[in-house]
Parts: sequence; C-alpha cells; structure tokens
Amino acid sequence: MNGRGFAVACANIALAKYWGKCDEALNLPAVPSVSVTLDALVTETEVVVDPSLTADAVTLDDVAQDGAAARKVSELLDLLHGGAPRAFARVTSHNRFPSSSGLASSASGFAALAAASARAYGLERSASELSALARRGSASAARSLYGGFVELPAGTPGDGSLAAHPLHDAAGWDGRVVIAMVTRAPKDIASRDGMRRTTRTSPYWDAWLACAPGYARTVRDGIAARDLEAVGAAMEASTCAMHASAWAAVPAVRYIRGVTLDALDRVEALRREGTGAWATMDAGPHVKVLCAAADAARVAEVMRGAPGVVDVRVAKPGPGIVVT
Ligand code: DP6
Repeated sequence: MNGRGFAVACANIALAKYWGKCDEALNLPAVPSVSVTLDALVTETEVVVDPSLTADAVTLDDVAQDGAAARKVSELLDLLHGGAPRAFARVTSHNRFPSSSGLASSASGFAALAAASARAYGLERSASELSALARRGSASAARSLYGGFVELPAGTPGDGSLAAHPLHDAAGWDGRVVIAMVTRAPKDIASRDGMRRTTRTSPYWDAWLACAPGYARTVRDGIAARDLEAVGAAMEASTCAMHASAWAAVPAVRYIRGVTLDALDRVEALRREGTGAWATMDAGPHVKVLCAAADAARVAEVMRGAPGVVDVRVAKPGPGIVVT
C-alpha cells in the first residue's frame, strides 16, 4: 500500500446529454452521452490512508464535510474495496474553479477521488475500472477519467461494469467552450433528484429516451468529422430536449432562469452576426457556449455583456486524469 494518492482531474461538459437512469442502485445512465473534458475546471484530491482514524475525514475546499457529502466519499472507498474491511482515510479535495461559479464539480471530484484512493490503498485498477467506480459517485464522473472527447454508453440494468471510453484526443480540434456564469439563481435541484422526478413523472420521458441516442450519434459523427457546426447544433438539440423533459416533470424540474434566457438570446445574436456559437446548460442556470478557437474572444465579449453574467471563462479541451 502506498498510503497516499494524489489525482488531478478536469471537469467535462456533455455535448450529448446524460439525463435519467436505467438502474438507480448501480447508477447506470438510461441514455448514451458524449462529452469534452475541459482544462479550465480542475479538481485536486489527496487521499491518505490513516489506520489511526475511526472514520474517514473529508475536507472540501478547506471545509470539513459531514452528512451526505462525506457519506458519498466513504461509499466510494467502500466500493473500491468491494465491501471488505478497510482502514479509514483522510480525503482532501480542492476545486480550482472560480469561487462564484456554482458549477457542478461532481464529475472532476469523483474521478479524482476514484483514482487517488485506488493509488492510496495500493489497489491496481485499469482506467476502465476507475471510470466504472467514478460512475457510481456520479455518472458524468466516468467521463472525466479521459481527456479530449469521451463517450459513456447507456447502461444495461444489473451490469455494474459500465465505463466511459475515449473517442478522440483533442489534437487538431480548435473548439473552445466559453462558460458564462450567472447569479441570483435559487439553489438548484440536485441532478439525481431532477432525474428521478423526470423519469417518474414527465410525460416527455419516453420522448427523451427515444431521441437522446440519435443526438449522441450525431455528436460522435460530428467530432470524427471535425464538424463544429454539426456538433453544436446536435448539442443544442440534446440540451433543449433534456431540459424540456425535466421541465415537464411534476412538480417541474427547471434549471433555466431568466438570466439563462438572456444569455441564450446573446448566443442567437452571435449566430445572426455570422459567428458560429452553440449553447448548452446542465443542472444549473449557467450557459456554456461551443465555438471555434478563433471566435472565442468575440463570444466571450458578447457573453460578458449579457445581463446577470458575473464571470466568463474560456476553456479548451483538456487532458485526462493524472495520478501521482
Ligand atoms: C445535466 O453525473 O451529476 O450534467 O449520476 O446522478 O450524479 P448523477 O448525475 P450527474 O448528472 C449530470 C447531468 C448533466 C448532463 C451530463 O453531464 O451528461
């Protein structure tokens, strides 16, 4: 056993969205998703095994965690051990995100935790096994093991081995993601709760299940062809279908706020002026805009001017996880 593991993982953004599960216990997605790993959003996690501890000690951004957040960390360490008895660990994690972001960090967080803890406990795991482990924490985390463009297929109920796989590295791709962060949103509904409610109550759940694989295919083909417009258009369609299915849940699962719509107006205006720009949103009000590298400065300038936007970051395709 090394006793210590340290991992640096980048967050990712889904170009074709994952929304909803086919097996809640194993956290298996009901639809395939395709993502790009982003260099601008990084989580660093250290795991130190400490046999003198009587429980795991979890710290996130210098704040000691208890309750659900700490429990999810301990559950992942238990899963790594297949339920066998284990020593407890000190887990220290930092999100290198802008402080106002409110961006979901679970993807980079659980990817870094899976890799750092396997190293700390001296348990050799392949990238695919680590991806499947990270998936149990958060399905989007399965994709953050890899750099560039990554696919997480839909799951098969009962099959806990599902992992993401890399599609293409980022070489030769000049895309950028401009992240426009907005404020004044009330606390979001956790994606897990939003998915459950959508699956159980939305009249559009079946429609989402029917159309999501097609968007994933179009995004995959668009990435292979380096066709930014095809990827962008399918990403927007996937995003709108996902949010529509959630919005139709009872009660509604609505992540889109007024400031989100203002930002979307700016993206449409960019397209009207001839700048290729396509928007996506996740389980929150922020808008992320896909564009060519050459247009990123213009897109960032326009998004900065949207009402309610408090911070804008330009991210490029990022690397896979690094473990030491
Ligand atoms: C909208 O991976 O956070 O960002 O597996 O329940 O933890 P759990 O969900 P999570 O969901 C991400 C949903 C999304 C779309 C995506 O990233 O594919």
